[in-house]
Amino acid sequence: MILGAVVLAAGLGTRMGSRRPKVMHRLAGRPMLAWVLDALAGAGAGHTVVVIGRGAEEVAACLPPGVSTALQEEQLGTGHAAQVGLAALEPRCDAVLIVNGDLPLMTAELVRALVDEHARGGRAATLLTARLDDPGPYGRVVRGADGLVERVVEARDADPGELAIDEVNGGLYVFSRSALEEALAGLGRDNAQGEVYLPDALARLAPAAALAAPDPAATLGVNTRVELAVCERLLQDRLRRELMLGGVTLPDPAGVYLEAGVQVGEDTVIWPGTHLRGATEIGAGCEIGPDVVISDSSVGAGSTVVSAHLLGSEVGEGCRVGPFAYLRPGCRLEDGSRAGTYVELKNTSLGRDARVPHLSYVGDATVGEDTNIGAGNITANYDGFRKHRTEIGARVKTGSDCVFVAPVRVGDGAMTGAGSIITHDVPDGALGIARARQTVVEGYAEKAAARAAARRPDGGSG
Ligand code: UD1
Ligand code: CA
Repeated sequence: MILGAVVLAAGLGTRMGSRRPKVMHRLAGRPMLAWVLDALAGAGAGHTVVVIGRGAEEVAACLPPGVSTALQEEQLGTGHAAQVGLAALEPRCDAVLIVNGDLPLMTAELVRALVDEHARGGRAATLLTARLDDPGPYGRVVRGADGLVERVVEARDADPGELAIDEVNGGLYVFSRSALEEALAGLGRDNAQGEVYLPDALARLAPAAALAAPDPAATLGVNTRVELAVCERLLQDRLRRELMLGGVTLPDPAGVYLEAGVQVGEDTVIWPGTHLRGATEIGAGCEIGPDVVISDSSVGAGSTVVSAHLLGSEVGEGCRVGPFAYLRPGCRLEDGSRAGTYVELKNTSLGRDARVPHLSYVGDATVGEDTNIGAGNITANYDGFRKHRTEIGARVKTGSDCVFVAPVRVGDGAMTGAGSIITHDVPDGALGIARARQTVVEGYAEKAAARAAARRPDGGSG
């Protein structure tokens, strides 16, 4: 048996109420379709064809290499979509997995189990089913006296007796290819939706084998945004469980949002209100959260991130970020460095043990090791036309409320006076100070009061 796979993903997805193709709606950061393709690939599905139609270009653009597409120009139903897909499947595949593209909770284990069942049963068709407390709109599985599947009837076409059946079509099938092609060629559209139904092929190939999913949740289909949210929650549960079993502490798991592929090291604690997105990697023994968003970033071991947003940045080991810090793309914080409260960094590197503790904007800058940036410093990196860099050396101490008008350089071991607007380079070890000198007027307060009193109508007597 040489296996291939056809994914049905061309449907209109009308019930989503969306301009986007249904299978492109995201779950835990990835399109719904990516989850289905992963399950297939994980089960060794072989050559895979995705049937596209609605939003075909957008769907085709998200496919991994090696996956083929077949265009279903008119959405005439799942049976028709299967025909279109089969036409593009490598001829050498003599068995085919057919799966609805809207089953994001499908697992590789379940796909493999169904393929095994198909091989064992030796029938032309094997169907994945699920027993549901509320079978709702799913197709009902009608089994014969021998326990094998006679047919599937869609909920809309079912009579009350059939509607009472609690075993439903899970939307995943294995067929002998030639038998399926023959069965599909003979199908009509005489049903409530006037469509060619793939499940109708089962009646023609009956009796068919079936495998009931041990966990019915894996067969949940997404037709509406409500179901999308249900699947998201279940995927989140799955991802959070994986982290916890991998040695990460989540004191309040429901408050942590994860995207697929995020990695977290042992003994890290993730507090609620934390979102870890994209290609994000957190080291061991970190404290992350509460109230943190980290996207496409890395955080080294033993670092603390509280109430902060990190986008496209690298944070080293033993760093402290936040509370209330914003790291925009292109930042690199070396080990032991710190971005503190009300601090925004952009495209900036902080050397080892460098600190930007309070109320600062540092953009397009290089800050050397062990340097301390005073409270309220700003790099004026934009002259209204172009961005320029600020270079601050190692072991520098900048005074509070300094502005660095880029391009400008402050040398190693230098200092700047509080309130300075630094427009010229400060050499190594020098002090840069740029502010008006303070004038002291002795006795001013008393004289001012006397002047004010003299101006009053009563001459100051009343
Ligand atoms: C389908 C099954 C139902 C089963 C359920 C499981 C049919 C007729 N019914 O119902 O028995 O219980 O899945 O989730 O198959 N598609 C196309 N082209 C089309 C029509 C649909 O590619 O012309 C794709 C859709 O994009 C979707 C998949 O096929 O990914 C299933 O279609 P959908 O309309 O969601 O079928 P259900 O009503 O859920
Ligand atoms: Ca569906």
